[in-house]
Amino acid sequence: MGRVLVPTMGALHHGHRALIQEGSKWGKVTVSIFVNPTQFAPHEDFDTYPRDNEKDEMLARLWGATGVWFPSSEEIYPHGPKVTECAGVLGGILEGEHRPGFFDGVLTVVSRLFDLFQPDIALFGEKDWQQLQVVKRFAKERGRPQILSVPTVRDADGLAASTRNLYLTGGERERAHLFPQAFQVVRALWEKGERDRLTLEGAGLEVMGGISKQLDYWEMWTDDLSKKPTLFEGKAVLLGALRVGGVRMIDNTPLE
Ligand code: PAF
Repeated sequence: MGRVLVPTMGALHHGHRALIQEGSKWGKVTVSIFVNPTQFAPHEDFDTYPRDNEKDEMLARLWGATGVWFPSSEEIYPHGPKVTECAGVLGGILEGEHRPGFFDGVLTVVSRLFDLFQPDIALFGEKDWQQLQVVKRFAKERGRPQILSVPTVRDADGLAASTRNLYLTGGERERAHLFPQAFQVVRALWEKGERDRLTLEGAGLEVMGGISKQLDYWEMWTDDLSKKPTLFEGKAVLLGALRVGGVRMIDNTPLE
């Protein structure tokens, strides 16, 4: 049994519950709650990001965490909020193209959390597939901690659980449901044996119809995000980012 860390920015939802429950199988879980300024661009929602420490602590403990850690800004950034890590090429594709510097900010805080807490194991959700790959590579280079992941948790309408879903109006949510449906259609084709990237990507675009114009990206890559072949031989992942109203949603489906 080891020291297990579930890093979060709070606003806990059932995706976080899955991480805490999986982590509890490996040791005593501590949930860290820190809204990290260096992963928000100036026009993003850092100031308005939902913060309710009391509720988050209650939920984390209810779901099995034995520790809830609220690091202060001074603890994480003793010299002020500066980016000190670089996510490289992996951090520059997909999300990184649309949110420059985002993964450098994520890696900077993750690195500080790891240094301060010294976990044996840390858990991250597969919903943020690219973040998971970036963190896995970082931890591998440093030799620890072990990184575990849990599959994406979905709401009843198929949307991936996410803090920013809170910002969707009823009508926006209604329109957004085509996004997870498109992933499902591609998955079904993959399971029937289709391996041609353009055919698979195209089938999903057709399902989305008009809302596909609001995509930032919709791309199939090898599961480690190292290549984008025209014909897949091994594991793959389809990743998408969609803007609905003022909300930007990301989702993916791993294909084996
Ligand atoms: O996925 C998140 O909630 C954040 O990016 C993380 C990993 C806690 C770093 O701030």
